[in-house]
Amino acid sequence: MDKASARDRIQKLRNELHRHNHLYYVEARPEISDFEFDLMMQELETLEKKFPELSDDNSPTRRVGSDISEGFEQHVHEIPMLSLGNTYSREELKDFETRVRKTVSTPVEYVCELKYDGVAISLTYEKGQLVRAITRGDGVVGDVVTANVRTIRSIPLQLSGDGYPERFEIRGEVLMPLEGFRKMNEQRSAAGEQLFANPRNATAGTLKMQNSALVARRPLDCYLYSAAIKDELFNSHFESLNACRRWGFKIPPYSRLVTSMEEVFEFIDHWAEKRSELPFEIDGVVVKVNALAQQKQLGFTAKTPRWAIAYKFKAQQVSTRLRGVVFQVGRTGAVTPVANLDPVQLAGSTVKRASLHNADQIAMLDLREHDQVFVEKGGDIIPKIVGVDKEKRDGASAPVTFISHCPECGTELIRYPGEAAHYCPNVYGCPPQIKERLNHFISRRAMNINAAEATIGQLYNEGLVRGPADLYTLKYEDIIGLERFAKKSSHNLINSIAASREVPFPRVLYALGIRYVGETVARKLATHFGSIDRIRQAGVDELTAVDEIGERIAGSVTTFFQDEANINTVEALKEAGLQLEIRNEEAETGTLLEGKSFVISGTFENFSRDALKEMVASNGGKNLSAVSSKTSYILAGENMGPEKLKKAEALGIPVISEDAFMEMLKG
Ligand code: IVH
Repeated sequence: MDKASARDRIQKLRNELHRHNHLYYVEARPEISDFEFDLMMQELETLEKKFPELSDDNSPTRRVGSDISEGFEQHVHEIPMLSLGNTYSREELKDFETRVRKTVSTPVEYVCELKYDGVAISLTYEKGQLVRAITRGDGVVGDVVTANVRTIRSIPLQLSGDGYPERFEIRGEVLMPLEGFRKMNEQRSAAGEQLFANPRNATAGTLKMQNSALVARRPLDCYLYSAAIKDELFNSHFESLNACRRWGFKIPPYSRLVTSMEEVFEFIDHWAEKRSELPFEIDGVVVKVNALAQQKQLGFTAKTPRWAIAYKFKAQQVSTRLRGVVFQVGRTGAVTPVANLDPVQLAGSTVKRASLHNADQIAMLDLREHDQVFVEKGGDIIPKIVGVDKEKRDGASAPVTFISHCPECGTELIRYPGEAAHYCPNVYGCPPQIKERLNHFISRRAMNINAAEATIGQLYNEGLVRGPADLYTLKYEDIIGLERFAKKSSHNLINSIAASREVPFPRVLYALGIRYVGETVARKLATHFGSIDRIRQAGVDELTAVDEIGERIAGSVTTFFQDEANINTVEALKEAGLQLEIRNEEAETGTLLEGKSFVISGTFENFSRDALKEMVASNGGKNLSAVSSKTSYILAGENMGPEKLKKAEALGIPVISEDAFMEMLKG
């Protein structure tokens, strides 16, 4: 293809991809399958690689971010980012209206909006292209986070429609929807990483990450709520938002145009009750004077506009009595204090326990035995104690102290410098740590051994299993006759353990439960090094040379292999016949797939698309970006919709799974 036709094709693909991206992420009504989307994206990637001079920072291919780390430049806001006057009381809302009426004599309309609980962002567009994204900072100067913001799929990189100003700014809130937040925390928990307390913290942390490729994997979204566009273009705020919606911005559908304070209160009542049904968090409602001429008349105070006010919801809070504090030991040995409370109703559920996080938190609250405490359910998943009702305190009550020794095994606890948590260092002797590690080992995404937590507890208590390798020497005779073990269940367990010998190496590596080695990292390490022995031999330098492996992970891996007990476990697992190397390695420079061509699409359980492509190539096969009559196989991951099947069928191309592909590699 010559450059001129490449330019045409690239432009066409970019426009189409921008349009489908918007249909999917903003309007939630996709017109094409993921597969078709992938194909276009792959074609664009190929062309952009071939003609680097035609590259563009706003190309849809850039949504995946880049791992070139960038410090954040600072940028002065052209229009300062003010905040809003806040109130928790309806009386003050009425006062707000009275003030508005004093200045404005014409009838007033208000726009009621939700107050999104995220991180404010300002986006600048020139000629319809996103050119800059800045955080609020101190309101005058913010951080330039354009590379990170580009990865947020619902933010248009290129506007659609027409009539937008040559250059303008639009502001909104970046947030993390609750479902994505929960999933992300689950993954972090599985990897032994620190959890985010709430979606807002997760959002703020994510926007400030130095590696936009990692940002791209976090489930961020963005709702826009205010366009700084000259008055001549629109008469009202509501109108300007509707225009922004037409240009491709995600403008939330929850806003209402009303003409009285009664209706404002109705809006508030509605969302105070229904806020828990929203897929994201809000902390109140924002009321804005709609007419831009009236806004101008009202103007600003030093810090806030006089034409808008935020009505904040009170955090859902109750008071109850502290029964006592227990200390729980997790898989990584971290000790978490948990408060047992007199049961109390809070935001639709009964609360009996609340997290106290760590020793600092207990000290900060100055918590005493049997205190009357305030419990809140904010953005956090677990309710937390936010304060003590000191007036109700019994003067003689003793302070709650953090334990010095592990409640499970009696070992003295330690606190690493810079960390808030206390740890039980008795990694191999502390029962809950062992049991939790075993539970992680057998979990579905790791070794997928079909046993309940209670079963693991039982096998441990009976002295049959002390580490993962013991599972593989268990015999039917060992377990038949144990409580709850009949013939069938005993056979099932033994069979399920045996079947796990076939689990591919990346998952075995994940199952080992090395701190910070979650599924993604395990896959990276496994495909890069190929075997457990090579990972073990790798030093920090070699490990950090791998894409996305930083010093923290590298340190954790090397520490793991410095421990005799871990080495023994790994050797015993090897002995037991587990997959401790990538299976197709023997065929690395093979000819197994010679003459065959593959189109790889979708997301896969065990390997990344790139890793699979590598396997195709290293076995003599060819990777294609688009389906044609020359394609031998379509290797399809999870997002394979019915349309794709149809397409493949029409051309008579076999569609194969990851497992089938692995079988193929075995020859
Ligand atoms: S309008 C002049 N509308 O709340 C200020 N702000 O304290 C214009 N926020 O920093 C802001 N939802 O990050 C506006 N629908 C909404 C909002 C909203 C959330 C945030 C925003 C701002 C803070 C105000």
